[in-house]
Amino acid sequence: MSYLENAWYVAAWAEEIAPGQLVPLEILGTRVVLFRRADGTPAALEDACPHRKLPLSMGRLADDAVVCGYHGLTFNAVGTCIAAPTQAAIPPKACVRAFPLAERYGLVWIWMGDPARADPATLIDIPQWGAPDWGYNRGPVMTVDCHYLYVVDNLLDPTHVTWVHPGSFGDAACGAVPIETTSAPGGVTASRWLVDVEPAPFYAKHLKFSGRADRHQHYEMRYPSNAVIKAVFVPAGTGGHGRPLHPDAFLMDSFNFLTPVNARQTRYFWFQLRNFAPDDDAVSREFTDDVRHAFEEDRVILNAVQVGMDSSATPTIDLKNDLASHRFRQTLARMIAAAG
Ligand code: FES
Ligand SMILES: [Fe+2]
Repeated sequence: MSYLENAWYVAAWAEEIAPGQLVPLEILGTRVVLFRRADGTPAALEDACPHRKLPLSMGRLADDAVVCGYHGLTFNAVGTCIAAPTQAAIPPKACVRAFPLAERYGLVWIWMGDPARADPATLIDIPQWGAPDWGYNRGPVMTVDCHYLYVVDNLLDPTHVTWVHPGSFGDAACGAVPIETTSAPGGVTASRWLVDVEPAPFYAKHLKFSGRADRHQHYEMRYPSNAVIKAVFVPAGTGGHGRPLHPDAFLMDSFNFLTPVNARQTRYFWFQLRNFAPDDDAVSREFTDDVRHAFEEDRVILNAVQVGMDSSATPTIDLKNDLASHRFRQTLARMIAAAG
C-alpha cells in the first residue's frame, strides 16, 4: 500500500460538489463519485458499477441514489443496491463501496480507509478559523503532475523560496541560515528565524512597520499530507524564540492540503489566514493572486522534478534541507506499513 488510507484527505472545495451533479474524482488511485443528497449532505461511492464496471458518474442522480447508465442498477448513498430494473430480484452481491465524508473549512473531506475509523474529530484543527480579527483568502484547487511526496519535500523546505520565489516569498537574505527540524507525534516542522533582513516583496507591502525585519519561517507537515506554513514578521531586533510578539507583528498562516490523485498527480488545496484587514476584499484578492503566482512557480518545478526523477540515469543526493522531509517520509512509511 502506498498511501495512508486511514486519514482525512480533501476531496474537493464544497462548491465543486454542486447539487444535482455526479462528480468523478480519483483519490489515492481509487475512482470515486461524489454527489449531494437532497438535504445537501455529501456522499461518495466507488465510481464503478459492480455489473460491468461502468463509472457510476456516467449515470444519473435520482433523489439520493445513483442510477447506472448501462442497465439501471441503482445504488443509494451508502452503496446498497435498491433497484435492478432488468430482473425480478436485486442480485445479493450488488453493492459498491461508500466513503465517509465530512464538510469543514469550506472543504469536503474524504476517508478512504476503514469507515469504522472515520472520526470527524480528527480533522485538522484550525484555532483561528472564523475569528473576526483574521482575514481569509483562498485559491482554486491546483493539479500538480507529481507524486505528493515531492510536494511534501517542497513544503518542508524553507530554503527554496530564495531560488523559486525571488520576487515574492524569498530573497537572497534567506540563503544559508540553518534550519531547525523538530518532530512531534503529528508531524515534522522545519523552521528558522532570519534576523535583521529586508522583508521579502510578498510581505513588505502589508507590514505595519517600515524598515528591516526579523522573520520566522515555520514549515510544518502533518501526517499524511497537510501543511501549516506560518510566516511571522516583526521589527528587526524584536524577534526570536520565546519572545513575546511585537504588537505590529505580521502573521500569516497558510494551510496547504495535498490529496494524492495517483502516483503521478496531486491535487493541491490552499487558503491563508492573516492577522489584519479581516474584511478587506482587495487585500484578500491580492493575497490570492500573489500566492497563486508563487504556487505556480512551485508547480513548474515540481512537474519537472517528477519527470527528472522518472528519467534519472545517475544517483540523486540529499542536502541538509532535506532532513525534515526525510524524517517525515520515514515516519509516514512506517505508519503505512503498520496499517498493512
Ligand atoms: S454496467 Fe451498471 S447496470 Fe450494467
Ligand atoms: Fe514554494
